[in-house]
Amino acid sequence: MLHPEVDTDTTRAMHSVEGRTIIVTGSGQGVGRGVANHLAKAGANVVVAEWNAEKMRRTCDELTGLGARALGVEVDIMQRDQIEAMVERTVAEFGRVDGIINNAQTFRANAPVAEVETDDVEVFYRSGVLGTLWAMQAVYPHMKAAGWGRIVNFGSSMGRVGGAGFGAYNASKEAIRGLSRTAAREWAPDGIIVNVIAPAAAPPRAVGSEHYEEFMRTSPMGRNGDPELDIGPIAHFLCSDACRFVTGHTFMVDGGNFLWS
Ligand SMILES: NC(=O)c1ccc[n+]([C@@H]2O[C@H](COP(=O)([O-])OP(=O)(O)OC[C@H]3O[C@@H](n4cnc5c(N)ncnc54)[C@H](O)[C@@H]3O)[C@@H](O)[C@H]2O)c1
Repeated sequence: MLHPEVDTDTTRAMHSVEGRTIIVTGSGQGVGRGVANHLAKAGANVVVAEWNAEKMRRTCDELTGLGARALGVEVDIMQRDQIEAMVERTVAEFGRVDGIINNAQTFRANAPVAEVETDDVEVFYRSGVLGTLWAMQAVYPHMKAAGWGRIVNFGSSMGRVGGAGFGAYNASKEAIRGLSRTAAREWAPDGIIVNVIAPAAAPPRAVGSEHYEEFMRTSPMGRNGDPELDIGPIAHFLCSDACRFVTGHTFMVDGGNFLWS
C-alpha cells in the first residue's frame, strides 16, 4: 500500500487512453476489431473505419454495447478523398483526433517473385502504403495543432524476414516501415509519435495453411495471438502518453516468434 500522499493519478493518466479519440481502420474483423474492442474497454472513443458496412456495424454495436462512444465510417482506404472525409467526420463528431491505427490492408493472392502480377502489387501498395500515407497526412494538421498525436502503422514479420511467396505483400509492408521511420523523425518535434506493429494473430482463413503450421511449430509460446488480448494492449500503449519517448520502432507482437529470424 503506497503512502496516501504519493501521486498515483499522474502515473495512471500516462497509461490511459480514456477520452482519447482513436481511428482504427479495418476494424470490422480480425486484428482491427480486437484492437477497437480493447481501446473501447479502456475508455477511448473509437472510430470504426471499414469498407464492409455490415462488419463495420457489427463492431460499432459491440462497442456501443459496452457503453463506449463509437462512430462507424464507411471508407475505402484506397481512396484518398474517402480517407480525408473519414478524418473530417471524426473531428466533427469528437472535436479531435488523438490517434490513428492504420491496420486495414486489401489482400491479394500471393505468388513467388518470378510470378508476381503487377495488378496485385498495385493493390497491396495502394491499400498499404498509399492508404497509410494519406491517413497520416490527413490527421497530421490536427495532431500538430494539438501538439500531441499517436500513429500506429502495420508491418509484418513476413516482410522483415523476406518470407518466400509473399513478394508483393512484403514490398508494401517494408515500405510502410520506411515511411513510419521517416514520419517519426519529421514529426517528433510536433509531439507526434509513430510506431509499427507486426502482429501474429492469424485469421481463421489462415489456420491449417502451410505458413500457419510453420508458425505454430516454431513459435516459442506455441500459440496464435489474440487480437484483443495480445495485440490490443500494445496498440493501447502506443496510443497513450506512456510511449512518449519511443518512436520509429517496429514492435514484433508475435509471442517471440521473431527470435527465429
Ligand atoms: N493476422 C496476422 O497474423 C497478421 C500478421 C502480419 C501482419 N498483419 C497485418 O495486420 C493487419 C490486420 O490483419 P488481419 O489479419 O486482421 O486482416 P483481415 O483481412 O482479417 O482484416 C482486414 C480488415 O480490413 C478491411 N479492409 C480491407 N481492405 C480495406 C479497404 N480498402 N478499406 C477499408 N477497409 C478494408 C477488411 O474488410 C477487414 O475488416 C493487416 O495490415 C495485416 O497485413 C496481420
